[in-house]
Amino acid sequence: MTTQLDERARDILRANDRGGYTVPNGRVYPFQWNWDSAFVALGFATFDQDRAWREVETLFEAQWPDGFVPHIVFWKDDAGYFPGPAVWGTGRSPLTSGITQPPVASSVVRSLWLRAERSATFRPRLEQLFPKLLAWHRWFAEVRDPLGKGVVIAVHPWETGRDNSPEWDAPSQVIDTSRVGEYKRRDTTHLDQSMRPTKIEYDRYLALVQAGRDMGWDQRRIAREHPFRVADVGMSMMLLRANRDLAALADDLGRKAEAEELRGYVKRAEAGLDYLWDDSIGAYCSRDSINGRFSGLVTSASFLSFYAGLKHDKHDSSTLQHFERISKRVRYVMPSLDPDDPGFDSIRYWRGPVWAVVNYMIGTGLSEAGHSGPAQRVRSDTRALMEGAGLYESYCPVSGRGSGGGDFSWTSAIWLHWARSG
Ligand code: GLC
Repeated sequence: MTTQLDERARDILRANDRGGYTVPNGRVYPFQWNWDSAFVALGFATFDQDRAWREVETLFEAQWPDGFVPHIVFWKDDAGYFPGPAVWGTGRSPLTSGITQPPVASSVVRSLWLRAERSATFRPRLEQLFPKLLAWHRWFAEVRDPLGKGVVIAVHPWETGRDNSPEWDAPSQVIDTSRVGEYKRRDTTHLDQSMRPTKIEYDRYLALVQAGRDMGWDQRRIAREHPFRVADVGMSMMLLRANRDLAALADDLGRKAEAEELRGYVKRAEAGLDYLWDDSIGAYCSRDSINGRFSGLVTSASFLSFYAGLKHDKHDSSTLQHFERISKRVRYVMPSLDPDDPGFDSIRYWRGPVWAVVNYMIGTGLSEAGHSGPAQRVRSDTRALMEGAGLYESYCPVSGRGSGGGDFSWTSAIWLHWARSG
């Protein structure tokens, strides 16, 4: 089984390789996606290290001069996807979207570097990537942390990577959709409607894209004036982890000042991320930065505090209690939404299904924090899902059925890098 799936996963990565970058899935997502590419590199690294580094390098070729790294790079146009480059209208070369995605690239580069055993062959490539990664982290600190707490403010649900999470429902209410007009979605022609966001949610996504375009994609202005400005628990935890990993890379490169700067960001977040602790539910969750309201929801992102390296006895034990409760309610952890929440929907995007990449981060964090029981559960469930259903975009936590697109790149990568030995 393992060897068969290994071969299948490698075939999927090779088939989705467009030469220097990998599409998440040829039909539904025909471009380069930011955090997908990072995870994909972990998969390539298991059989082709050179190709793994190339994936991240290609992504950073699309970095804007201010350090921002876009969520999609449209290396080649494809009429099968909406909204395409003309709708974004960022006017960049290469063509890109105007929002970012979770900053996992530095953590991935650190994995690549360690897998290469810090070899001299890859050192020049690390030297080249390091300032680019640092520029992106600085951009987060300067543009997306207006509270000065190390908390990331997302200005579009798509930035969080958990596009359709119910955490965005309340903050999205204020988005004016009156100017959106007619458009033709493409996602629902490729996939079952019952799995995808509804029309009003899609109208809001587009209204935010239009608002960004109207502001000329001036990121500082967007961060101040956009109608949607949510402190995302997922991105905040991943950035904290990424800052630690980039600081370790700075140490290896002998860049003392940069290492110190990055450890400054780490300290700021360690003190500031309490902002995302919702005591009424006993969990970390996202929070609307405009009115200060918590989402009040336990999601898969609530379990990323271990991956971030946060240590807090009371918070940790409360989070682990949620883990225990949820792991008894569903066959496969970690559902993207608490199954006891009335909005839980086992097959709809980010309202129930399990994502392998999120499990990888949760499992890694739990294991590093010494919670070996829950860590093992996450990893073996991920493995069982992939063995049972194949390498899907996501999975139903109840039945284990695959949902979303099939032959998915980052799922294949997580199989090769992590889940196969679970
Ligand atoms: C969906 C996911 C997002 C991912 C993209 C490509 O939009 O919500 O996280 O990056 O698909 O796989």
